[in-house]
Amino acid sequence: MTKLNLTEQEILNYIDEANKLLEKAYVPYSKFPVAALLIDDNGNVHKGVNVENASYGLTICAERNVIPTAITQGMKKIKFLVVTGGTPEPISPCGACRQVISEFSDDETIIILANKDRKYNIWSINDLLPYSFGPKHL
Ligand code: THU
Repeated sequence: MTKLNLTEQEILNYIDEANKLLEKAYVPYSKFPVAALLIDDNGNVHKGVNVENASYGLTICAERNVIPTAITQGMKKIKFLVVTGGTPEPISPCGACRQVISEFSDDETIIILANKDRKYNIWSINDLLPYSFGPKHL
């Protein structure tokens, strides 16, 4: 089960940091910035935004941008992941991102979905992607 050992203030600080990142998103086509802030099992913080492309299909979501960065820096597991966007409600990650998040998550991983107004909700990977296919099944 997800055990939350973050205070409300810590959560809001992470959300604020993620919201600040939104201005770095490269979104000339959708104008829909998304940002992801990841704290890994070593306590290192990694940042990612969505990066679009004129050939639309090559767009990289914020979540799938930050995870390879974190892996390159030595991450083994995601401890906290904050994802935020300009949605009226906390953002909802796409299916592809849920699958990639799941590869590096366990029952302790805390996923915080947020928006620009600091509205948020807290998820485990199993809530976001139940009965998922993963490394355990190979
Ligand atoms: N996007 C993300 O970055 N993450 C998601 O989970 C949902 C969608 C991006 C992709 C595209 O640049 C824009 O949001 C609109 O779909």
